[in-house]
Amino acid sequence: MFNFVRRAWNHNINAIDLERALNQLGVGQHRDLIAHSSLSAFGFVQGGAPTVIDVLQRNARTLVMPAFTYYTLVWPNHKKSGDWPAFPPADGPTWRPDSPVSHDIGRIPQQYLELYQAVRSHHPALSFAALGQNTNSILSSQTLEHPYAPIGVLYALDADIVLLGVDHRSNTTIHYGEYLAGRPMLERYAYFRGALAQTFFPNCSAAFNAIQGHLTSLEVVGVGKTQVQRMSVRDVVDTTLKMLARDPEAMLCSYNGCRCQHVRDKIRKNGVHSTQDSLLEQGQVLSGLRRSS
Ligand SMILES: CC(C)(COP(=O)(O)OP(=O)(O)OC[C@H]1O[C@@H](n2cnc3c(N)ncnc32)[C@H](O)[C@@H]1OP(=O)(O)O)[C@@H](O)C(=O)NCCC(=O)NCCS
Ligand SMILES: [Zn+2]
Repeated sequence: MFNFVRRAWNHNINAIDLERALNQLGVGQHRDLIAHSSLSAFGFVQGGAPTVIDVLQRNARTLVMPAFTYYTLVWPNHKKSGDWPAFPPADGPTWRPDSPVSHDIGRIPQQYLELYQAVRSHHPALSFAALGQNTNSILSSQTLEHPYAPIGVLYALDADIVLLGVDHRSNTTIHYGEYLAGRPMLERYAYFRGALAQTFFPNCSAAFNAIQGHLTSLEVVGVGKTQVQRMSVRDVVDTTLKMLARDPEAMLCSYNGCRCQHVRDKIRKNGVHSTQDSLLEQGQVLSGLRRSS
């Protein structure tokens, strides 16, 4: 009985517990931050999602979250390719700035949009939400061709990543590393501004936990019944690049039905050709950052 009460108590966390954890991890107003989260992983969070958002906002120069809407993808027959799911879902609705964030992305980003009026980038499937000093530079970098460009800006800003109750399978920054390494992306479609638009999706993230032991900036603190992990965007991107330089198929899953196998086939056929982020190279984003700081 006593143990049960103690466990329930331990798994009931509040803003002070979270703030203490972020402080221990060295997260603060001096850095921009991208957060990936599971609300229920903590146990019971007093005040729910707004408690988490308030604490994150107090500890970030700019707070960024994914606001992806996977269900907005459409599957037009004339664009069909071998890497599509055998039975694609029904075509999704056209994306709108108030389209709900996918359940797979979580309630915390959804409430960030709804309750905090976070600014949202206009990508029909892979939008990001942000508030804070560098919001405009981060979000305006995104295009249909380069959906992960906002991570490139976070790289330039030397931002932090926090994983709240989730692991590297939610660590979108790894996809940006894959992009730089030249890992092929897959064509996907969604309706956008009244027309069918092409965009690009990466392989899945099921095997991303392989990065864990290679990161040098990673710090972990227990909170409630889970952990909060902090690491730098640069460490994750640079480590992904090193892992993929050693093995271009690193962190692809081995599940037969997964699109990862199509990415693997493309790599075996065409190799990988690492790329520079042209936005960053051309200094467009960086000069924008200088203006906004
Ligand atoms: C999928 C995922 C969101 C599921 O996490 P989750 O904790 O089950 O769901 P959410 O974060 O949306 O939180 C909602 C749940 O919190 C619970 N909850 C509600 N209030 C709560 C509170 N005060 N305290 C704790 N939990 C609470 C509820 O059970 C709710 O579930 P319900 O919708 O069934 O009622 C999470 O595992 C994940 O992967 N997050 C990261 C996603 C991401 O950033 N991906 C990047 C793409 S590569
Ligand atoms: Zn996969």
